Formats: sequence, structure tokens, C-alpha cells
Amino acid sequence: MDPIKFNPQTRVFTLRTRSTMYQMQIERYDTLVHLYYGANLGDAEIVHRIVNLDRGFSGNPYEAEDDRRFSLDVLPQEYTAEGNGDYRIQGIEIRHPDGSNCLQLKYRSHKILPGKYSLPGLPALFARDSSDASTLEILLADSVSGVEVKLLYGVFPQCDVITRAVEVINNGSSRIALKKAMSLELDIPKRSLDMIHFYGRHNMERQTERRPVCHGIQTIESKRGMSSHHHNPAVILCDRTATEDYGECCGVVFVYSGNFQCQVELDQAEQTRLTMGIHHSNFSFRLNPGESFIAPEAVLTWSGKGLEQISHHFHDAFRKHLIRSSYVNRHRPVLVNNWEATYFQFDEKKLYGIAKAAKDIGIELFVLDDGWFGKRDDDISGLGDWYVNEKKIHGGLPALVQRIHDLGMKFGIWIEPEMISEDSDLYRAHPDWCLKVPGRNPMTSRGQLNLDVSRKEVRDYVMGQIFQVLDACQVEYVKWDVNRAVSNVYSLSLPDDRQGEVLHRHMLGVYDMMEQLVSRYPDLLLETCAGGGGRFDAGMLYYSPQIWCSDNTDAIDRLEVQYGTSFLYPVSTMGAHVSVCPNHQTGRTTSMDTRAAVAMSGTFGYELDLEHMADEDKKLAAAQIKEFKRIEPLIQSGDYYRITAPGDDHNAVVWSFVAKDKRKALVLGVTLRKYANPPITLIHLRGLEADAQYKETGSGHVYTGAVLMYAGIPLPVPETDYQAVRFEFVMLSCLDTLML
Ligand code: DGJ
Repeated sequence: MDPIKFNPQTRVFTLRTRSTMYQMQIERYDTLVHLYYGANLGDAEIVHRIVNLDRGFSGNPYEAEDDRRFSLDVLPQEYTAEGNGDYRIQGIEIRHPDGSNCLQLKYRSHKILPGKYSLPGLPALFARDSSDASTLEILLADSVSGVEVKLLYGVFPQCDVITRAVEVINNGSSRIALKKAMSLELDIPKRSLDMIHFYGRHNMERQTERRPVCHGIQTIESKRGMSSHHHNPAVILCDRTATEDYGECCGVVFVYSGNFQCQVELDQAEQTRLTMGIHHSNFSFRLNPGESFIAPEAVLTWSGKGLEQISHHFHDAFRKHLIRSSYVNRHRPVLVNNWEATYFQFDEKKLYGIAKAAKDIGIELFVLDDGWFGKRDDDISGLGDWYVNEKKIHGGLPALVQRIHDLGMKFGIWIEPEMISEDSDLYRAHPDWCLKVPGRNPMTSRGQLNLDVSRKEVRDYVMGQIFQVLDACQVEYVKWDVNRAVSNVYSLSLPDDRQGEVLHRHMLGVYDMMEQLVSRYPDLLLETCAGGGGRFDAGMLYYSPQIWCSDNTDAIDRLEVQYGTSFLYPVSTMGAHVSVCPNHQTGRTTSMDTRAAVAMSGTFGYELDLEHMADEDKKLAAAQIKEFKRIEPLIQSGDYYRITAPGDDHNAVVWSFVAKDKRKALVLGVTLRKYANPPITLIHLRGLEADAQYKETGSGHVYTGAVLMYAGIPLPVPETDYQAVRFEFVMLSCLDTLML
């Protein structure tokens, strides 16, 4: 099967993955129309779906002469421009020097290439070898201005994903201003779709909302300079009847960590258009003749078997082709982080005490969180001063790290390189290094300002300071945090008419800093973080194999956060810790068992004062760590199934991991309320081999996969509120079955 084919007779492009097919055609007047995205239909060319009608008030290109049926306003297209008689949401808008915005993009040429394109300076999916992926480049051009748009398609047949990106090239002779450049536009000739998106807030990220796509435009977006706690840069469109394992669905994830906008419009002809890209608010890029702009990548997938398959496609694609870290399939050291144990109040004795207690129960990595540097005794000072505070860590950091290494543990450290406190030596030396609009007081947030990391000298200075610390201590893990949104968007390094470039240049600056870090320390385990999960996105996964999921460590709230996150991102990327009870964010008390069941469905760790943990809890923690190490390979590489959902009528949130060869399955979850005279809750597993025999390792009962999936099994009747659920199934071999 050729992943990419062009038929010169019909001028149809076909992109094919294992189970999906994507088609477009060069139609009349060299217009690139979108034909189809859905199930793989073999050699069929879906040209019959374009039905042209004369629609009043939908104009026609000049070349169409008296054919009033050919209108860009209703044609499904690949990439559309403003000012061209298509009044729907659009891919690109530019401003010519004469103030006009018209762009007539016509097919000019194309190339089919082996391997996957890359995007300089930007995160993007990659092929591990050239047979993993193929690239299609289609060049569209506006003959009047010389502006060209290169549409990039990366086809990953095995993972059923197609990536898209766009390069805008000014091949004309005048300077233009790029006002909008979406990365993906997708026309779906369907009404009656639902849109699933992931909204939230600090401490409650990626909540799931499903709503009908209505006429007009629905938008999710971030203008915060980061992908944000408030909306994740991803969306799923699906049939109204779609469930976890039924119906057509299409998912898009943006591989970018800054401002974004995702819009969905149902038009007059009952067709749906989806766009995803950098937000055009406060965005304007000057392109001089010969210059180009690259719009980041978006990843697209389709499923004819419901939502879980969308998740499996994304999870597999991200694990194989986005996360570069060698930790992606490796054991992640079980960690203890001192943040909730000490906040800013610690000294080297306290830290060592936690590390020592951690070592005794089998923890492998000690992470020193915020407060170790500069004059950082609270959250309003010290950011930017990346040298150790010896008033807190007497004898210096290398000595403490050595003692921790001597315990046989790894050492990790927290940094927040994109920020500066006004009360810092760095600010006193370089007050002009932050984002600040001349003549105005900046907006502060958590008492800090954004460093202007669009400037190379700023990035290099800060990273240089941090490298000195990391070099001196042999640090094995870094937690890279960012604790405020971007505002006061103005860079002293750019002229007034280029201030619309600052936000994107700032994001490129962040990526450059992360690239410096991971290339200097290729074995480092990097965990990114943004006040919890405010920058949990595919862009970050290119640099860090795990992201702190939320500052909310309450196991019950985490059920919802981790449930929403799982639609898009692999469980092995979700930072999750067992913390103390009553929980610091909610005041809720749950058992150690429940907290562990939730945190194990992520990168497992602890975040509490282990020195003062009861002996009984220490024993439980030691057993949990052993248990996690045993099940980690399945959690890391298995297929994830959402068995029940928060808010449904199961009174439990349950999920499972099924090994790729289907020989093992692990069911984890939490029952919610204990009722008097309780109902019995059945759960139905998915993804098993129907005819195979599975033994439940706890009770020894044997069931066929079909029984577990279609008849279901009862959940244990809860004896308390918030009780952990845990079942493990192993497939019996023919021999085992004979011996039964
Ligand atoms: C926000 C993070 O999410 C927390 O885990 C912690 O690192 C604090 N910042 C430290 O300031």
C-alpha cells in the first residue's frame, strides 16, 4: 500500500493509513478541494461527493464566468484564504502593502517524499526510520502577489495519524503582514456532529465537555501565551451517537504550547469546517520578500470504532513518534518531591531526612522543588537568581546531592527559567529583560514577570546559569515549571510594527531553551509543569516524556483530570503523586490504597513528608512501590480503556490497561459513594480476546474474554466512600486451560 498516491488523470491525492483514507482533488481553476477523510476505502476516489448548486449570495470566482454553481463559499477545500468569497472560518489572512487582504490560492505543484518533514525550531512528530512515514508537500500560490502556501502532510500508516503543517512563503516583491496562519483546516460534509473538548481551570484541568456542533462558530482558545489550564489545544468531533467503542470520530491535537484557536463552524450547506492553529489575536508576522513563516503541526486521526480508538491512535503516535526521550519506554524512577512536604520552609537536614526515609521504602529519585535558589523564601522573590541559597542549603548543593547519590538515589531539581521576580538580582541588573509595555506598569501574577525569552541573550544567560548548577551536581531529573500566563506583550528587541510577533517568538524561545537542555543532557529525565497542568500539550511532549498533570493531588478530583487527559495523551505522560491526607487542595481524606491506585495510572511518585509518615503507611508505600514496578510496563505500553466515566451512573470511575498481545489486563478504579443497601455495579471490560480464557489473579476465577466484555463482572460492594478497585487478569495458555 502506497501511503501517498497522486492520480494524474483525475488529479486526486490519496493518503492512506492502516484503517483511514484522506483524499483531495485539484478541481476546476486549480482549486484544491477536500474530498474525504474516513475509513480506508481501497482504490475508490470519492469525487462524487462534491455537489455544486447555485446558492444565492455565494459568489463565484471570475474564471467561472457564468457558472453560478461553482462557489468557494460552499466548496469543501483544503486551505482557504480571507478576501476570496469564502465567508466561513479560514486558514490564512494576509495584509498586502496596499492594505488589501485578497489571496487566491491555486494549486501549483506537489512533491511526494519518503520519511517525515520536520519543522525547524518547532516540536513535531518524527519517523524513527524512513518507512514509518511519508510526506506530501502541496504548493499553492497567489499569482498576483507571489505569496505561496506550502501544505505539509505527514502520513504515519501504522499509527493511523496524519500530521499537517503549513509554510507561508513570500515569493513576491513586497513586504506582507501575515495576520493569521492556521495549521489545519478540515471540511467535513456532515451535520449532527458532537464536539468534545477539554476545558478547565487551575487545579481542575482537562474536564470533558461534549456538546452539539451548532450553526455559527464555536471556539476554544488560549490567549494566555501558554496552551493553558482553561482549554487544551485539542478537539474531537464525533457522531452524536458515538460512544467509547461505537461511531465515527475525528480528533485533532495541536503540537504547540502557546496561544491557539480551534474553531468549528456549521455552514449554510450543513457542512462542518474545523480549523486549528496559532491564535490570530495579537499576532502579525512581517514577511519581507524571500522570508517564510512556519505554522506549527497539528495531528489528525479518525476512528470508525468510537472514542477509545481515537485515544489509542494518539497514544501510540505520541509514544512512538513524538516523545524523543529515551525514558519513553523505560522505567521511570519512583520519586519523592518535597513541595507539599515543606513548601518554601526547608534546610538541607530536612531534605536529607525526607530522602533517607524515601530510600528506606524503595523510592529511587529525590526531587528538590521550588525555593532552593536566590532569596526565595516565598513566591514573590528570587526567580532569575539561579544559584543556591546557602542560608537554606548549608554546605552547598553539590554536597547535599552527593549525600543523596550516596544513598543510592537519583537527584532532581525544580527550575522556572522563563520567569523573573522584581525582587531578584537579575531584575536589578536587567530590568529591561522582562516583557513590559513601555510607559505602563506590568500586570503581575504570583508576584512575578515573564522574562523576554524571545531574546537570545536572555535565553542564553538564564540557561548558562542553570547549566552551571546542573553541571556541578550531576542532576538526573529536572522539573521545568511556569507559574503565570504571559501578558504585557512587548519586546524591546523588536520595532513597533513587529510586536505582533512577540508571542510566537517567545514560544520559539521556550522551545529553544528546552532544546538546549535536552541536547546538553541526553539522559536527563525532564518533567514539564505549568502551575500543575497549564501546559499539558503535545508540544511539551517533544521535550519531556512526562508532564505534571495538576497541582491538585486529591485522588478523587484527579479521577476527572486524568480521565479527560487520557482522551489525548498517554497515561505514561501524566505526572501523578500520592500526597498527604487531609488533602492540601480539597481537605478530603482517602485511603493510601485509593491514592496509589490513581497515582499509579501515571508516572508514580510521592509528595509528602515521609519523615513523619506513620510506620503502617510506610509499609503500605513500600508495597505500592514494588507493585508499581511490577505493573509499570503494562501501564506504559498497553492500550488504555475508559471503562466508566466520572458522572455516569456507575458510582465508580474505572479504567483498564490491556497488553498489546492481549495476554494481560489490569483494571483500576475508585468506587465513589458507599450506599446503604447498595446496588450492584457491573463493569464490562474491552479489548480482550473474546475466545481466550482469563484468570482473575485475586480470586483465581476463570472467565472467557467474551464473558468479561459482554456479561461483565460486578464491582466489589464498597465498604467505605472512595474505595480502590483492582483486578488483574492473565490469559491462560492452552496448557493452563487443559490443567483446569
Ligand atoms: C507549581 C507546581 O505545579 C508545583 O508542583 C510546585 O512546583 C510549585 N509550582 C512551586 O512553586
